[in-house]
Amino acid sequence: MSEQAKQRILSGMRPSGKLHLGHLHGVLENWKRLQDTYECFFLVADWHALTTSYECPQEIPANIDEMVLDWLAVGIDPERVTLFVQSDVKEHAELHLMLSMITPVSWLERNPTYKEQQQYLKEKDLATFGFLGYPVLQAADILLYKGQKVPVGVDQVPHIELTREITRRFNYLYRDVFPEPDALLAEVPKLPGLDGRKMSKSYGNSIFLSDSPDVVRKKLSTMITDVERPRMGDPGDPENRCIAFKLHQLYLAPEQLEVIVSECKAAKRGCAACKKELAEAIVLQMGPIQQRRKALAADSGTVRDILADGASRARKVAQSTMAQVWGALWNRNAK
Ligand code: TRP
Repeated sequence: MSEQAKQRILSGMRPSGKLHLGHLHGVLENWKRLQDTYECFFLVADWHALTTSYECPQEIPANIDEMVLDWLAVGIDPERVTLFVQSDVKEHAELHLMLSMITPVSWLERNPTYKEQQQYLKEKDLATFGFLGYPVLQAADILLYKGQKVPVGVDQVPHIELTREITRRFNYLYRDVFPEPDALLAEVPKLPGLDGRKMSKSYGNSIFLSDSPDVVRKKLSTMITDVERPRMGDPGDPENRCIAFKLHQLYLAPEQLEVIVSECKAAKRGCAACKKELAEAIVLQMGPIQQRRKALAADSGTVRDILADGASRARKVAQSTMAQVWGALWNRNAK
C-alpha cells in the first residue's frame, strides 16, 4: 500500500516512567500491529503529565527516557513510525490555544475524567485552567496530524468524543480542515497484578518490563492464586478461581495449560511450582526485550537522535496544518 493510501493513526501516552506487563499487552502490542498498516504518530504527552504533576515537573524528563526505552525495546520501530515528545513540537501549544477559543467551558466541565480525577487525586489541586483544558490539548495532538484513528483504552473515549465535537465546530465555523477522528478500541486482556487488582504502578502490584529475571521470579512467588485452595491437597479450579492463571493463559502454550488444569483440579500440583513455571515463561519472553533495552540505555545518544528525528518529521506536518488553520480563520488560502 502506498503511503498516501494509508490512514493516519495518532496516539500518545503520558510519561509515567517504567512500563509494566499491562502496558505491553494492553497498548504496545496493539501499536506494534498497527505500525504496518497505518501511518503512525506516537507521542509522549509530557504537557499532559504537567497538568497533574505541575508541583514536581523535575520528575518528567527521567520518566520520558524510561518510557521511550520501553517503547523501543518492545519493538516500536522509529523507521516505520514517527515517535516524538509533545513539547518538542510547539505547534501543539499553538493549536491548543486556537481550539480553546471555540470550545465551550460547559463541554469541558461535563467531561467525566475531569471530576473523577479530582476525586481520585485528592492530594492535588486540580481545579486549574490547564487541567480543565486537558481534552483540548489532546484534541490538538490528534488534529495537528489529521489523525483518523486513535487507538485508546475505554477510559479515553470521552476525550475522543470531545475531539470530534471540537472538529465539527471548527469545520462548521471556518472550513473543512480536519477529518473527524474515530477511537480504535482494541480487545485487551485485563491483566491482574500480583494482588489480583488491575496491574497498576500506583498499586505496587506490577511486573515491569525492566525487572530482572530474579525480580520477576520473586514477585511472582508472591502472587495470589486461588484463595479457596489453601492447601495443595485441595482440588483447584484454575479457570474460574485462580488469579495467576490469567497470566498462565497469556504466556503458556495450550498443551501446557491442559496439563496445569488437570493436575490442579486433581490436587496434584502446588501453586508454588505452578508460579515458577509461569515465571520462567515470562522471563524467557522478556529476554529479547531486556537485551534491546540494555543496548539502547547504554547509548543515550541513540534515543536522543530518534526523538530529534521524530520531532522534526512531526513538526513538518504540524506546521503545514497550522498554515491551513490560520488560512481558514483569516479566510486566506494556505501555502
Ligand atoms: N490522555 C491520554 C492518556 O492519559 C494520553 C494522550 C495524550 C493521548 N494525547 C493523546 C492519547 C492523543 C491519544 C491521542 O492515556
